[in-house]
This record gives sequence, C-alpha cells and structure tokens, in this order.
Amino acid sequence: MSNTPKLLLPDIPNLHEIDVYLTNGGYEQYRKAITMTPDQVINEVKISGLRGRGGAAFPTGLKWTFMPKGNEKPKYLAVNGDESEPGSFKDRQIFEYNPHQLIEGILIAGYAMGINVAYIYIRGEYHKWIKLMQKALDDAYNKGFVGQKMKEIFGNDYFLDIYIHKGAGAYICGEETSLMTSIEGDRGYPRYKPPFPAQYGLWGMPTTVNNVETIATVPAIIKIGGENYAKIGAPGHTGTLLYGVSGHINKPGVYELPSGTLLTDIIYNYAGGVKKNKKIKAVIPGGSSMPPLRGDEIEGVKMDEESLKKLGTHIGTAGIIVMDEDTDIVKVTLRIAHFYHHESCGQCTPCREGCGWMEKILKRIANGDATSKDLDLLISIANNIEGNTICALGDAAAWPVRGFILKFRDDFEKVIKHRRTFISPNIVHGRRNTASTLIYEEGTN
Ligand SMILES: Cc1cc2nc3c(=O)[nH]c(=O)nc-3n(C[C@H](O)[C@H](O)[C@H](O)COP(=O)(O)O)c2cc1C
Ligand code: SF4
Repeated sequence: MSNTPKLLLPDIPNLHEIDVYLTNGGYEQYRKAITMTPDQVINEVKISGLRGRGGAAFPTGLKWTFMPKGNEKPKYLAVNGDESEPGSFKDRQIFEYNPHQLIEGILIAGYAMGINVAYIYIRGEYHKWIKLMQKALDDAYNKGFVGQKMKEIFGNDYFLDIYIHKGAGAYICGEETSLMTSIEGDRGYPRYKPPFPAQYGLWGMPTTVNNVETIATVPAIIKIGGENYAKIGAPGHTGTLLYGVSGHINKPGVYELPSGTLLTDIIYNYAGGVKKNKKIKAVIPGGSSMPPLRGDEIEGVKMDEESLKKLGTHIGTAGIIVMDEDTDIVKVTLRIAHFYHHESCGQCTPCREGCGWMEKILKRIANGDATSKDLDLLISIANNIEGNTICALGDAAAWPVRGFILKFRDDFEKVIKHRRTFISPNIVHGRRNTASTLIYEEGTN
C-alpha cells in the first residue's frame, strides 16, 4: 500500500468542521503564504510541478503567471466544481470532507494573483455538497478568515470575498469559458480562445479558472514546500491524485494515491477487484471523454498524464471506469455518444451535427441495421469533429467513439454481422496472482 500521506483527504474525523480544521493546522498555510511575496508563492507552485486536475493537466504555476500584475482592473478566480463528466466524482469529496482546505487554497491563490473576488462554481445537482460548502464558507466568514475582516485577523492589507455559484445541470458549463458565461448570468455558451481567460475572463476582466482539487492542493504545497511536493508521484505529473473508481468494481470510491500508481493496483488492491471476480474488458482511465484501454493493455500502466499519453489516452479527471468481460461495448459507446450529443451546446456545426450523426449510426449498429462501412464513417466523423470546434467538448465526444472502434472493432463487426454481442476472451485482463490477498484500506473515503 502507498506510504504517501494523504494531502487532500486525510483520515481525520470531522475535518469539515472549522474547529477541527483549525486544531489540525488549518489556515496556517495562508498565514505562511502571506509572509512570502505573491511571486514567491507562484514560484513555489511552479516548483511543485502541480498540474491542473480538471482534465487538461495544464501546469498550475504557469497558468497563474498569465494573470496581469497590478490592480488597474478587477481580477477574478473561478474555481471549477461543475464535475459533470460521467465517471468523475472526486471534487464532491473535497466539498464534503475537506472544504476548508479548498477555502484556504482559494485565499492563497487569490493572494498570489492579486485577486479580491473568487467564485466556486458547483454542479447544480450537487444539492448536498452546495449546502456543505456554503456552511463551511459561512463558518470561515464568521471567524473572519474570508472577506474584509481577514485584514484584521491576519494582519495585512489583503482581503478576498468568495461566492458560491450554483450551476443548472449542464455539462458544458464545466468548460472554462462557458463557466464564466454562466456566472455572468447568460446561457453557458463557450467563447472562442484566444483571448484566454487571463486576458478576457469574467466581465471581460483577467480571470483564472482552476479545478477544485487543483486549488485544494495548494495549502499542502505551501506546507511541505514545492520541492518536497515535486518528489511525490510521477516526475512529469507530480503529487497525489484523487482517483475515482467506478463501474464493475467491488469497492467503488475515491482513492487518494500518488500519481503514477499502477492502474492494476488501484483496481485490485484498493478498489477491491472486479465484481464476481470477472475479467476486465475495458478501462477508461480519466472520465468518459478519454479513449479507452483494452483489458489486455492495462498491466504495467501508470496513472499519470505522461505515461497515459504514450498509450494514446489521458489522465483527464482520473475517473477510472472499469468494465468487465461481459460488457457490451457497442452499447457503452452508444451511451457515451448519447451523453455528448445531449450536452453539445449546438454553437458549432461539427459538434452539433457530428455528435447527432455518431449517435444515430451507433443506434443503427446496436439495432443490427448497419454495415462495416458505418464503422469507417464513424471514424471519419470523429476525425472531422476533433480540433474543429470552439471548445473541447467536440474532442470529448469524438475520442471515446473513435477509441472504442479502434480498440474493439471485432466487437462492432460481430454485432453488425450477427446482430448480437459476443464475449471476446482474448483481450481481457484477469486478476493478477499478486492480488490474491486483497488488502483493503481502512477509512478510505
Ligand atoms: C466540456 C468540458 C467540460 C469540462 N468540465 C470541467 C469540470 O467539470 N471541472 C473542471 O475542473 N474542468 C472542466 N473542464 C476543463 C476546464 O475547461 C478547465 O480546463 C479547468 O477547469 C482548468 O482547471 P485546472 O487547470 O485546475 O485543471 C471541462 C472542459 C470541457 C471541454
Ligand atoms: S464544441 Fe460543441 S459544446 Fe463546444 S461550443 Fe461547439 S457546439 Fe458547443
């Protein structure tokens, strides 16, 4: 089992309560950060190697340097907790179990970039978590850790206000420009980039958009120092990650482990292995938008962006979806395609029309009314969507469809030919001998 301490979800009972957070060193990292200059804080984050946890794994310290210096214009931080990608459910663990570390991370990020207003954008369906986060924020305000009073409490001139903004249940509002349009009160349509949010963000002002987990990691970096943080996990993608494991798995849940942990370790040693001891047919490593891995490919795979990129996929949100040997891949692909078609905002033609065509053709395949040529047509549509749209939802729709066809063409061909699904015994992954004695981690959230 991993000896790396949990930096985001430590096993401390009631850590969500402000007094418990305070007795465990809470808000001390903000105190430490304000003894440094803003540039020193940004540098520490750069040295840490922290990469965004929202999907694109963009270096966080570098992103913060894009914000203009000085106070001529208001600047904003938008913390992205839209978390609507199927297979992703890690940010809500932070809202529930460690909300003050997120608030403290916002204070540090705000101080580093000279921002006085931050928004936490939370997925509309997360009623419970919105309430929990609001309670934590109210408690922090009451103690004077947030808002104008913080000048007095922390003894310097800096202050920051934080607002929780509830989404309305649209996946597209997680895309950073769409999220900003939604906060501004309009329909959540993505905007063209450039200009990027650091130049033209909320209300046309410089804005940084970061994921909840990214920001919640910042106090841990200030605590142990960027250099020490950089020693955790895989060198190109440092730190601990919140891996969300779902699908045909005995112990679905969120596991905090170093980046670069073996996928098979996560599945068998932490998440309890596959239900009914079945073999694995496919794994999506980072949320439904990422290309899948076949069961026979997962041995030795390390869960970090650089390792996964070499295999033609990505870490995404580290939402691992495990599918057993009996999974009907055609139906899975159809279900994913339906989701992206439904969530397309419709602004650009390749995404709006292409997502519809992909779903239509996949339905035809599932219904036994297709030919092999339809598979090539699907790949051609996916290729024509990718890179030709305003936002990355187009890519998110194209990648899994193309990925499943390229990796499981036989399955599709069999359904086309015989009008039914077959099990493909040669491409599955069986439980490793080393995992025969399963070790469960107590108290894992
Ligand atoms: C369709 C779509 C949905 C997205 N949803 C989310 C989301 O729910 N949460 C998130 O943090 N990032 C999401 N992103 C990525 C954001 O646009 C952005 O890259 C991210 O919030 C930046 O934070 P990070 O640098 O900390 O990763 C989404 C992107 C796309 C294209
Ligand atoms: S890619 Fe899709 S979701 Fe994104 S702007 Fe275009 S139509 Fe809208």
